[in-house]
Amino acid sequence: MSLQHRKSLLALPQWEALQRHAEEVAGLHLRELFAEDDTRHERHSVEAADLFLDYSKNRITDETLSLLLSLAEARQLGLAIQGMFAGVSLNSTEGRPALHTALRKPPGDPVRVAGKDVMPDVTSVLERMKAFVHQLSSGGWVGHTGRRIRYVVNIGIGGSDLGPAMACDALRAYPYSDIEVRFVSNVDGTHLAEQIRELDPAETLFIIASKTFTTQETLTNAETAKFWLLEELADEAAVAKHFVALSTNAEAVKAFGIDAANMFEFWDWVGGRYSLCSAIGLPLMVAIGPDNFMNMLAGFNAMDRHFADAPFEQNMPVILGLVGVWNNNFLGADTHAVLPYDQYLHRFPAYLQQLDMESNGKGVTLDGERVAWQTGPVIWGEPGTNGQHAFYQLIHQGTKLIPADFIGFCRSHNPYGDHHDKLVANLIAQTEALAFGKTEAEVRAEGVREDLVPHKVFEGNRPSNTILADSLTPRVLGELIALYEHKVFTQGVIWGVNSFDQWGVELGKKLASTVLAEIQCAGDPELAHDGSTNALIRRYRKTR
Ligand code: F6P
Repeated sequence: MSLQHRKSLLALPQWEALQRHAEEVAGLHLRELFAEDDTRHERHSVEAADLFLDYSKNRITDETLSLLLSLAEARQLGLAIQGMFAGVSLNSTEGRPALHTALRKPPGDPVRVAGKDVMPDVTSVLERMKAFVHQLSSGGWVGHTGRRIRYVVNIGIGGSDLGPAMACDALRAYPYSDIEVRFVSNVDGTHLAEQIRELDPAETLFIIASKTFTTQETLTNAETAKFWLLEELADEAAVAKHFVALSTNAEAVKAFGIDAANMFEFWDWVGGRYSLCSAIGLPLMVAIGPDNFMNMLAGFNAMDRHFADAPFEQNMPVILGLVGVWNNNFLGADTHAVLPYDQYLHRFPAYLQQLDMESNGKGVTLDGERVAWQTGPVIWGEPGTNGQHAFYQLIHQGTKLIPADFIGFCRSHNPYGDHHDKLVANLIAQTEALAFGKTEAEVRAEGVREDLVPHKVFEGNRPSNTILADSLTPRVLGELIALYEHKVFTQGVIWGVNSFDQWGVELGKKLASTVLAEIQCAGDPELAHDGSTNALIRRYRKTR
């Protein structure tokens, strides 16, 4: 694989062919593409596991697809996929594999990291998680004073927060017990304060979730949570009954004061943003119960198998990834909207922001060469229909091309009256309006006043994908997340970047510790930053 990456993407004949093709089809409109081919929808849609993807409303032709598929071949995507599943050290800058797929694989075939089969450890942590959740919900695990645990507060940030927080909301229709699960991520004390304000420490258990157990925000919140608990329970021994840890760093967990027996382990080959299926999923398992959690893992695994086995032309993550490359690199779209038409998925765009932007927001190739092509787009979005009354104006009539994924379900968990029909009607109508728009002639035919005609014209030709499933179940959520994980991987392989490191978060973290020391030091510190930074520090010091 790396051999190909050494060759510039731009010099590949497949890339050049796509560039020429983009010029040739620049004038094409989705109106014509649909008008000339009444099988377009059938030919440009694909089913995988329980998901259906219609990608026909993209500015693509059969030739576009075949050129994109040749590009995937040229980038040796198949080899890369095999390598990922086999535990090849794809994350070369951190010297480790990216084996999140092992976390949702049924036990059986071994998966080896440095010669060791990791599957027994994966299974054993899952079993410990299940036993813990049973104990909590049955009252077998009680707090220090003997009271039952009624609140679980997960303290973590980034991958140690976004996945379980998003999934807890997504799967609210699958409650397991009366234990309420809450999430605290921000170092802003307001977040913790508001989440614990009315809680009773005797009934509260904190899950401290941090892969590294060195993250400033998480450790600060965890220390404050410990202080809050001990102020009330006044006995260090209480920590053992009110704190558990999810981490790869046993030493640091011990140093914080959490017993190794209360730590649920995961491993450095699980990337933070790919960690929902590891011990990081514990708060979710508390919320939905072990059976639903296992159903979610089965959904992840179903999409993993599809990604590993399906031919590229029917491979949903590959198609979604390649169409994204087309929009990003050949049509010049800088951003990509994710629009779930399901209130339970309201945190899904935020989750995808980390998954996609931390993975593919890279400016150098695996070999450290500066890229001369666009890499990951800005990911953003809000649930429909809310977004329709906020930012859709710009998507419909603005000057920017914004491809969008519409995600919807045929059945609602809350079938009030005809709410769900209205919701889905809006989803479908939006994709139609974006693709086909409204011509000047059509506007005039409505008898619109002449000076208003340009304002009421919709150019159309705005690309979108539609992803549908029957219902938002744990299994379907697993499939949906895995779909996006593998889409991101596909794109990372095309762009030749390392989708599994995140060096871009380091500089800010380091500078923040310098600035913090300067803010907190006594006397008048000597500041050696630029004029703006020095002035901001002085201003804050004066009024803090
Ligand atoms: O923001 C960077 C990051 O390293 C993410 O990749 C990660 O998910 C998050 O911080 C939290 O890290 P940890 O789980 O080690 O506390």
